[in-house]
Order: sequence, then structure tokens, then C-alpha cells
Amino acid sequence: MGKIIDGKAIAAGLYDKMLQEVDQMEQQYGRRPGLTVIIVGEDPASQVYVRNKEKAAKKIGLVSQVVRLPEETTQDKLLTVIKQLNADPTVDGILVQLPVPKHIDKDAVIAAVSPEKDVDGFFGMKSGFTMKQGYVAPCTPRACIYLIKAIGETIEGRHALVVGRGELVGKPVATLLLNENATVTIAHSRTRNLGEIARTADILIAAVGKPRMIAADMVKPGAVVLDVGVSRDAEGKICGDVDFEAAKDVAGWITPVPGGVGPMTIAMLIRNTLDCYLKHVNG
Ligand code: GUN
Repeated sequence: MGKIIDGKAIAAGLYDKMLQEVDQMEQQYGRRPGLTVIIVGEDPASQVYVRNKEKAAKKIGLVSQVVRLPEETTQDKLLTVIKQLNADPTVDGILVQLPVPKHIDKDAVIAAVSPEKDVDGFFGMKSGFTMKQGYVAPCTPRACIYLIKAIGETIEGRHALVVGRGELVGKPVATLLLNENATVTIAHSRTRNLGEIARTADILIAAVGKPRMIAADMVKPGAVVLDVGVSRDAEGKICGDVDFEAAKDVAGWITPVPGGVGPMTIAMLIRNTLDCYLKHVNG
């Protein structure tokens, strides 16, 4: 039976380290890192995510601010707010919670955030399968790499399969795995023989959003399985892309949903903010 990757415990370890680092930063540079999250409108899921981000930022002692704007906010107004934050020397990281209301052009908003303050890592990942030097990587992909290293598994030379080719997770995590010298396959909805390919993967990262689509017989015995999907099954129960109950007996390591990749993602947002701060103060 495989070992469960405890994302909460691994995130807690990272938070402990960052808490100390922030104290040292304040002593050395005279101020704490600042993170501003902008949320436009009332989307209930986004409200929960933003509250969790705010809680994490406060726990670590960042100068944390949430700018809440009404649903009817114009794109011009939002861009003006972002420009002010770009120019604010106490703000190291800016995150605009997505989705933004339909009348706002998401790409224009993402492009308006100063690349040096882009804690989402969208800017660093923009140009296809490359990672621009000097910018942070997106939080969830970075969380996946961190988890694999935290459990002591090797990435280099191994076959990593990413199921899903989304801009937020699939493509960027494939890029990071490639940078770590894995042999990377990206599967998606048109992939033929997914099971056959998956059974050869030493590392399997599922980021699709289809409840339990990865069955136990698709997992290579001993593989590292990271499940980024979060959905609800027919009974309304929160579950991932992997059939966890069955796959845990085949995998070497596996993340549960919830409690796997999720807790690490917010920890990585804080890590990204600290990294942006360090670049900011060191010029
Ligand atoms: N909404 C859901 N996921 C994300 C994310 O990673 N970044 C931002 N900014 N908004 C999101």
C-alpha cells in the first residue's frame, strides 16, 4: 500500500521556515513583505479562496491587504488600481483573483500587473514551454515540484505524465518537470490509450477536473501520484481526478483530495511573495 502525501504537514513545515525568514527580512531590510489581493465581484468560491490567502499571509506576518471591488467595476478602474499598486514600494506581490466579471478582459488585467510583482507567475510562464529567467513560477505547479522533492523522490530522468493541458496547471507543471530533467508526456481529452501511457509513468500529475477519471489500473505500481483536480462526485462529495481509494494500494505515494496539493498551493503563493520581495529589495 502506498504512502499518503500529507500536504497539510508539508505546508506547515514550509510555513515555519517562512515565518522565521520574514522576521529576518524585517531586521535586515526594515520592512515586511507586502501582498495585495484584488477581488472583483461576489463569486462565492473566490471569496473563500481569497479569505484563505489572506489568512495565510497574516499567519506569516506579511503586510496583507485585500482590495474588494464591486461587480460593476469598470476595466479602466481596475487597471488604475493595479497601476497604483505597481507603483507602491510597500507592495511586493499583486494577485488579481480570477475569474473577473465578464465585462473585463482577463488578459488585459493579467498583463497590467508589473512582472516583478506577479505572484501568480503568469508572466514567467507566458511564452509557451519556457520559463522566463528571474520570475516566479505559478503556485500550483511549484507546489507539485515541492511535494515530489519533500517526499524524497527523484524527478530527473523519470517519466512524468501530466494529464491536462490547462494554462494554470497542466502546461506550466509540464514545463517545470522538463526543467527538472524529467521525460515529460502531456495527455489531454483527445489522447488515445491514456491507460497504456499512464501505466508507464513514474510520476503522474492529474489536473483535469473530472471526478476519479484516473482508475487504479492506470497507475504504475510504485508511482508518485499528485492529484490537482478538485470536483464533487454525484453524491456531492469533494474528490479528485484520481480514484484515491483504489489507487492508493497501487501507487508508491499519492496525494488525497482534499489535503494534498491544495494546502501547498497557498503556501507557494506566500513563497512567491517572499521571492518577489527579495528581488525587490536586492534590486
Ligand atoms: N482563481 C482560481 N485559481 C486561481 C489562481 O491560481 N490565481 C488567480 N489569480 N485566481 C485564481
